Amino acid sequence: MISKGCQGLLQVCGGNITQRALTQKSQSSCFLWRCYHRGISGKPLDPEMRAFLEENTEVINSGNLTPEIRLRLLTPRCRFWHDKAILWPYGDPYWAIYWPGGQGLARYLLDNPKVVYRKRVLDLGSGCGATAIAALMSGASQVVANDIDPVAGAAMILNCELNNVNPFPVVTEDLIGTKLDGWDLIVLGDMFYSEELAESLHWWLEKHAKIPGTQVLIGDPGRPHFVTHQIQKELHKISEYALPEATKQENYGLATTVVWHYQPLL
Ligand SMILES: C[S@@+](CC[C@H](N)C(=O)[O-])C[C@H]1O[C@@H](n2cnc3c(N)ncnc32)[C@H](O)[C@@H]1O
Repeated sequence: MISKGCQGLLQVCGGNITQRALTQKSQSSCFLWRCYHRGISGKPLDPEMRAFLEENTEVINSGNLTPEIRLRLLTPRCRFWHDKAILWPYGDPYWAIYWPGGQGLARYLLDNPKVVYRKRVLDLGSGCGATAIAALMSGASQVVANDIDPVAGAAMILNCELNNVNPFPVVTEDLIGTKLDGWDLIVLGDMFYSEELAESLHWWLEKHAKIPGTQVLIGDPGRPHFVTHQIQKELHKISEYALPEATKQENYGLATTVVWHYQPLL
């Protein structure tokens, strides 16, 4: 069953595909999808997938907090904004929306490059990949994006191309529950959208934020499962941004987005 918080997120689009999510589970499969740089994997993006994404998204760089990043997103000018949800051949396209949590994080990384400069960055629940792209633009030495939706991985390749950055590896395995090492910075934008996810993320983040040298930054515009969660006691506000009008309208009354530093007690 799709949680109430998730419904709230998906209603943003107002389009038919997102409405389908209110009654069905996401069809995203979980497998490791290594979209390594073409030079390494030698595997370009599947031409059919590329054509599908190019045909059914619009390149935009307005209405959000990072006009310097161009993204392929689902907009009212795209066929599937209005078309029957049943015709959409993939899982619910969270990656086709640039969420306020990710917008705040990306803005913060672009304005404060020293936070990521020469750092190894993991973007968990990367979606369209904007936060990961911002990290690369600000000089991160290594960026890996993680999203359980493989179509998000394809969209991220196109978004990297649009911004003239080398595509970063995208892992589509569910990493929550696994033990990771070697990250200087873990970033998460708008990931606290269901009670279950908030719980598992908190448990997972607590372990990783305690690793010496690993910093965790969370971008969130005040989602109910975030503001009511016990994680609040361990957060320090870093930055708050007023949301642009277009993002505000899409997010039902949310006015700002905040970047938090998660610091659990040792
Ligand atoms: C609300 S979107 C946020 C996307 C992006 N961070 C942003 O702020 O624009 C949440 C994303 O998390 C992904 N996701 C959900 N559960 C996940 C999990 N267990 N591990 C990794 N990604 C996950 C979804 O596929 C979706 O793309």
